[in-house]
This record gives sequence, C-alpha cells and structure tokens, in this order.
Amino acid sequence: MKIKIAASILAANPLRLEEEVNRVQDAGVDLIHVDIMDGHFVPNLTMGPFIVKGLKEIARVPMGLHLMVEHPSKFIKPFREVANEGDIFEFHIESKDDPREVIRLAREAGFRAAISLNPPTHPGRVEELLEEVDMLLIMSVNPGFAGQKFIPEVLPKLRHLREMAPEGLDIEIDGGITEENVAQAAGAGANIIAAASAIFKAPDPARAVRNLRRLAQEASKLTVEM
Ligand code: DX5
Ligand code: ZN
Repeated sequence: MKIKIAASILAANPLRLEEEVNRVQDAGVDLIHVDIMDGHFVPNLTMGPFIVKGLKEIARVPMGLHLMVEHPSKFIKPFREVANEGDIFEFHIESKDDPREVIRLAREAGFRAAISLNPPTHPGRVEELLEEVDMLLIMSVNPGFAGQKFIPEVLPKLRHLREMAPEGLDIEIDGGITEENVAQAAGAGANIIAAASAIFKAPDPARAVRNLRRLAQEASKLTVEM
C-alpha cells in the first residue's frame, strides 16, 4: 500500500503555524493532522474551529481532524463550516456518542469518517465498524500530548485489525513515531504515519518527512513480499 505521512501540528510552533505547515507541505506530506482536545476526554485543551479555519486557507492536502473529545457529534457542524469537503473526521470509539450515528452524520456533512482507538481498547470494539469507515486510527500513546513514548504493545492489535480490515482500508498509527520505530508500525500494517515531534522537532522537518516515508515504504514492501 502507498505510505502516507500525516504531519501532526501539535509539535509545530503555534506562532509560526503558516510557515511550519507550508514547510511540511512543500516536503510532500499527504495529510495535515490536527489534534483537537476538549479537556474532558483527555486532560488537555488544544485547537478548535478558530485554528482550523485558518488552516483551511493554506491547506493543499486533506486535513485529518483528530477529535479527542467526549461528544464528537456536537462538533461536526462547527468543524464542517471551517473545513474542506473530504477532510477526515477522526473520532474515538471511547467517546460517549453512538459511533454509527457519528459516522452517518459526519459523512452526511461531507467529511470522510475515521474511528480511533486508544492503546488499552480491545480491537473487538471496532471490528464490526471496519466496513463502515474510511479510515482506522490506532493510537500508540495514550492521547493528550505530543512527545510521548511509543507503546509497542499495540502492534499485535494493529496487525490483527489489518487482517480483519477490507482491502485497501487506510490505517493510521499515531503517537511516539520516530525513525527508529516507524518500520515496525508499517510492517504491522499501518499505511498512514502520523508524527508531530519526529517532524516538527527535527532539525530539518523536510528531511524527517522523507526519512519516515522511505523507512515505512521499505518495511511495508518487505511485509507484502514475505
Ligand atoms: C496525541 C496526539 C498525537 C500527537 C503525536 O494525543 O493525538 O497526534 O500529536 O505526537 P508525537 O508524534 O510527538 O507523539
Ligand atoms: Zn492525533
């Protein structure tokens, strides 16, 4: 599968967001990953429609809106108003809303829909939704902050869900990805690699994007050939 790189702006310099986003877009990232936190679902507050509205003006690739919020359905409309058609509404299975309803409403509004699961969450919770979503997002850290350590225990779950998923389903891995572990993640079946620190805290973000892509692509080829 084609490897895609999603640059998570949670580790970008917020005062130079335009410059930072353009830099990674010039380096060829496939998605801008926007971490939205409500202070309830996770103990942090980050970006809302105000920032997404600004990003829409400069986005040349789709935005993945990663909603770490208790009630995703409440936010479909406010984000829809400031996002582009086909941007991805990535919400959590651990949230309090009915996942089928959120998928339906997000799609109806013009989003693509993705379901996300936290490291401790059993894969069985999303198996029967795999046919209904455009993307699956597997967290490899407990959500809330950039710069945490990758949890390798999620790899068997990733491998299992890749086997269960319809052919060609985009599976994103998010959290603690580095040049050291990206091959493991891609080898286990992730084809979208989200990274914040590994890109924006690197001395040369463009180079970091190219390295992550190359390492992931090599690992995914190896798995296919095995
Ligand atoms: C964590 C966020 C991640 C985070 C990744 O709650 O969902 O997208 O920004 O940051 P790194 O790549 O630094 O772990
Ligand atoms: Zn995220």
